[in-house]
Amino acid sequence: MAVLPIIVVGDPILRKRTRRVPTVHDTTVQRLIDDMIETMRTAHGVGLAAPQVGVSLRLAVVGMPEQPVLVLVNPRVLRRSGKRQVEEGCLSIPGYVGLVTRSVRVSVAALDRTGAEYRVLGATGLLAQALEHEIDHLNGILYLDHLVAHDALRRAGVEVADHPVIEEPAPATVGLDG
Ligand code: NI
Repeated sequence: MAVLPIIVVGDPILRKRTRRVPTVHDTTVQRLIDDMIETMRTAHGVGLAAPQVGVSLRLAVVGMPEQPVLVLVNPRVLRRSGKRQVEEGCLSIPGYVGLVTRSVRVSVAALDRTGAEYRVLGATGLLAQALEHEIDHLNGILYLDHLVAHDALRRAGVEVADHPVIEEPAPATVGLDG
């Protein structure tokens, strides 16, 4: 396993819609999955999408604290409901966090690394946020596109006195960096 360099905002690959993974039964794809997991862990992120390591494929990993890593191959959102405001970061936008609008509840279908289809139904909290964030990456979307206001971005670790009020307490207290 190898730690890969993470591409930062400004690189056009982050804005490209990705291609489907033709097959998981491929040593290059399997190695990429291993490397993405290693890279996510090393960077202390809760998710990482293939474009962030320079590969324009529909592939992402999500590693929630104390949970097995989810490998999402060709994922799609089945359903989303509700709206909430949560603070979010991204490994490709280092040093910043932003207040964004996300869904309350998200259901996703994907293939795992063996090619078997699975579903994550009714995810909430940080998991729902991470799933939306990583699948956005596969469509060239960054959390910057979901800011509640154009000035809802701030330097990480800097508190802003007049920060917009969060309507619903964010369960994502550990924060999202994907
Ligand atoms: Ni991200």
